[in-house]
Parts: sequence; C-alpha cells; structure tokens
Amino acid sequence: MTTDRSVPSHIAIVMDGNGRWANRRYMPRVAGHKQGVDALHRCVKACVERGVQVLTVFAFSSENWERPADEVSGLIELLAKALAREVAQLSKDGVRIHFVGERDSLSDGLKQGFEQAESATAHNSRLIFNICFNYGGRWDVAQAASKLAVQGKIINVENLNTVMSLAHVADPDLVIRTGGEQRMSNFLLWQAAYSELYFSDKLWPDFDEFALDEAISEFKLRERRFGKTSEQIQFENTK
Ligand code: IPE
Ligand code: IPE
Ligand code: MG
Repeated sequence: MTTDRSVPSHIAIVMDGNGRWANRRYMPRVAGHKQGVDALHRCVKACVERGVQVLTVFAFSSENWERPADEVSGLIELLAKALAREVAQLSKDGVRIHFVGERDSLSDGLKQGFEQAESATAHNSRLIFNICFNYGGRWDVAQAASKLAVQGKIINVENLNTVMSLAHVADPDLVIRTGGEQRMSNFLLWQAAYSELYFSDKLWPDFDEFALDEAISEFKLRERRFGKTSEQIQFENTK
C-alpha cells in the first residue's frame, strides 16, 4: 500500500459504457453489466491497494428506471448476487459498504440486502465504499433541504452539508467518468463542486487498474485552487 499523500483520498466514478461494451460484441446489455461488476471488483481492490480512503460509485441512477424492464431487473439481480457473493471477502479486506440513494421505494428484499451488507462491514475502515443506487444529485439536495425544514433548521450550506447523503465522508477529490460522455448525469451535483473531473473513453468493463493509475497520475498534475490564485496555492505549499 502506498503512503503517497497525493493519491486522491476520495474517488467517485460514473461507471458508464456497459451497454456499448455488450452491443459491440452482439451480446445482451445485461452481459455488459455483468462485466461491469467484475470491473468494479478489480477497481475496489486497486483502490484498497493504493490507499484510497473513499470510493463512491454510481451504480443506478434515479433515471435508470426508465430503461427496458428486463435490463432493470437484470441489473438488480446482478447487484443482489454480487452482494451475496462478495460481502464476506470485502469485509475481510477492510471495506465498509454504504448504500446511498432513495431507499424507501425499493423492494424489501433489496433493502434487506443493503442493510445486511452495511451491518456486516460496519466495523471496517480501510476503504469506505459508497454505492449510489436509485441516486440522483437533485434528489439528494431536495431530501437534505426537507430534512432541515422538518427539523426547523435554517437551510444554508453548512447545515445542508450535515444532512446530504454523503455527509459521512469528505467531498470527492477526483470524479472519473468512463464511456466517453462528458456530463454528470445527475451524479454528485453538490459534492463535486470542487472535484477534479477526468473523462476516459474506455468503456467501464475495460477500465482496469492501469486506467485507474492514469487517472490518478493526471489528478496529481492538477492544481486545485478552490477559488484562490495560483500564487496563493504555491505559497501555501511551501509552508
Ligand atoms: C452504465 O452503463 C451502467 C448503468 C447505467 C447502470 P450503461 O448501461 O449506461 O452503458 P451505455 O452507456 O449504454 O454504453
Ligand atoms: C449514468 O449513466 C448512471 C450510471 C452510470 C449509473 P447513464 O448511462 O444513465 O447516463 P446518460 O443517460 O448517458 O446521461
Ligand atoms: Mg450509459
């Protein structure tokens, strides 16, 4: 494991391109999602090895329900199976799982699977692994604002930060999107305010540890200014 300080602490990924990966092989889209689960497995392992502290992935958006019913059910089945198969090993590797997104409307079976994965890994701290499922950035801001309203609190940035769905982690340092599209698609609209964005043309099933290292190398070259000037940042770095 590296102790390199400049490895991003929190990486977030829009895992896009599974469908095209399958289409190119004349396979059903769900076959692409299956390969996508394998790519995610490798990515989690690579993040643990590189000392990344938080990995947040976009697994299913609030808009993805609009897809054909067989794709949606295939995706949910893949997720349920992956949980049943992988949670024990992930826990041994020190991974703590959190599901992020609107949960009330999901089936009891899925909710139970999420709760079991979370409680089985709750004692871990090597890598926090947030899986965004039935997640949308707009939903997140709205649910946070309504929580504050119910509590009778002022709706300001500081208070919102305490009730957003990723309140348990710092904002992502690096947001990666695979699959060649350069858009957020309702991912972490609030939390990515100052994230470095990295777009890869690789389709998600092809995104391996070398591709991850390329993204991390590119991240290390970026100067994060958070609204300040370059001179200020360079001066702060000499202190
Ligand atoms: C991303 O891959 C996975 C999900 C949205 C669940 P896609 O299924 O969007 O793949 P493309 O974009 O159609 O290739
Ligand atoms: C974003 O990908 C959602 C996930 C990766 C889960 P989409 O494939 O749904 O995004 P659009 O529709 O191309 O913007
Ligand atoms: Mg897509």
